[in-house]
Amino acid sequence: MPDTYDLIVIGSGPGGYVCAIRAAQLGLKTAVVEKRPTFGGTCLNVGCIPSKALLHTSEMFEQAAHGFADFGIKVKPELDLEAMLAHKDKTVKSNVDGVAYLFKKNKIDTFEGVGRIVQAGEVEVTPEKGEAMRLSAKSIVIATGSESAPLPGVEVDEKKIVSSTGALKLGKVPEKLVVVGAGIIGLELGSVWRRLGAKVTVVEFLDRILPGMDGEVAKQAQRLFKKQGIDFHLGTKVTAVETEKKGLRVSVEPVKGGDAEKLDADIVLVAIGRRPYTAGLGLEEAGVTLDERGRVATGKDYKTNVDGIYAIGDAIAGPMLAHKAEDEGTAVAEILAGQRGHVNYDVIPSVVYTEPEIAVVGRSEEELKEAGIAYRSGKFPFSANGRARAMNATDGFVKVLADEKTDQVLGVHIVGRGAGEMIHEAAVLMEFSGAAEDLARTCHAHPTMSEAVREAAMAAWFKPVHI
Ligand code: FAD
Ligand code: NAI
Repeated sequence: MPDTYDLIVIGSGPGGYVCAIRAAQLGLKTAVVEKRPTFGGTCLNVGCIPSKALLHTSEMFEQAAHGFADFGIKVKPELDLEAMLAHKDKTVKSNVDGVAYLFKKNKIDTFEGVGRIVQAGEVEVTPEKGEAMRLSAKSIVIATGSESAPLPGVEVDEKKIVSSTGALKLGKVPEKLVVVGAGIIGLELGSVWRRLGAKVTVVEFLDRILPGMDGEVAKQAQRLFKKQGIDFHLGTKVTAVETEKKGLRVSVEPVKGGDAEKLDADIVLVAIGRRPYTAGLGLEEAGVTLDERGRVATGKDYKTNVDGIYAIGDAIAGPMLAHKAEDEGTAVAEILAGQRGHVNYDVIPSVVYTEPEIAVVGRSEEELKEAGIAYRSGKFPFSANGRARAMNATDGFVKVLADEKTDQVLGVHIVGRGAGEMIHEAAVLMEFSGAAEDLARTCHAHPTMSEAVREAAMAAWFKPVHI
């Protein structure tokens, strides 16, 4: 069969759609196969975008209910959940429509259906209705993403026992929400429903929240979430969820042994991680190997073990983040177009969009210690920042970690309002191998929250001024 395309991308999430657009921009004849009726993958349809819409609107509700009064604004907000969810749906629609527009603009052919790799260079597309068809291409990029990891013995029905997908469209505010897993999804979506009135209890297997993040940051965040009313059961496992007439009964017990307990809930959110999604792709038949964790194994330049087949995003190793998938999509498109695509895995920011936000780029103190790297830590609290005081946003701090000898910044951690925006000056600095002194000597506008970033850099390099 002659090659119809230079490239077929399977999956239109942030990895797949960015890859397709960049490939088309670089002159490759490109097709995308997507099984959902809309483009944008997990991120745009049931992930980043709808969750951020709800995080924003629920935070506005909380501010109106509890924050405005301190500023001399008297209001009694009333929740219209239907309208709040409609705003979220509208946001999703404008984003997924945006991807469809970009595909058209870049002359990318799209095929709706499940894509299966028949062999290198050949993809079968099976639509929900109608005949399967075959496409051919010089290269195939697997960008099929991930799905929620199941909790053994607990069946998700997306109504009472939900994954993140169900938690984004609850018809009413639960009275009691039990969240299994104190990771990013549990904390973001737990925050949404707590702000709207639910009593939220988070059950976490480990003895800390946000595993993988800097320990001091996680501790501070937990303190703040607790102050907001979230209950944490750490070092605890869920052994069963029973459906009773009155609601759900969640059986929990300490991981290290001890008395079991039952928690009442009307909704249980299972958020214990995500796993790569490769079902129905035909990888085994095509001879594409997976790694020990079920991810598509890739080597140099995102190549799988089969020539002409590449993989990116949540389906492969690395952090399951939209921007990581996007950057890999760009890199592989550039590689296929004969350029030198590349991703700097040392500088991938990660943001938890709670209030305050938690943002990190680079390494944690634990990681530096483990690697035996001598470092200096500079910290600055938002309580000493003028703008934060003006906004009643004094919770949190900035921490800059710099190499003891060279002063090169190795990690920046921010807990604070707008941390997800502030982190990028650190990312740019690190991309250019900048030092704490470089950041400390860069003039920052006053009064801004970002001055705290500069002060933390001053603290790492020499001394902060305002504390
Ligand atoms: P996906 O976005 O999962 O896209 C894969 C696509 O492939 C899907 O549309 C799927 O239908 C399609 N597909 C799969 N198999 C086939 C097949 N055989 N044929 C055709 N199509 C197929 N990350 C962030 O960086 N920031 C956030 O704020 C954030 N928030 C999140 C909130 C939630 C609730 C969730 C669940 C995730 C969130 N993430 C966030 C993670 C982010 O969504 C993922 O990292 C990102 O979507 C991965 O992109 P991807 O392109 O690899 O895969
Ligand atoms: P996660 O990996 O972030 O957290 C899962 C948590 O569940 C961990 O703390 C883990 O210890 C715990 N856990 C695992 N098994 C358990 C069990 N049986 N009982 C109790 N606790 C258990 O996964 P999460 O929150 O589901 O999110 C998946 C991924 O989606 C994230 O890792 C992230 O990559 C991505 N995401 C990113 C967001 C962002 O960037 N803002 C937002 C939401 C998701």
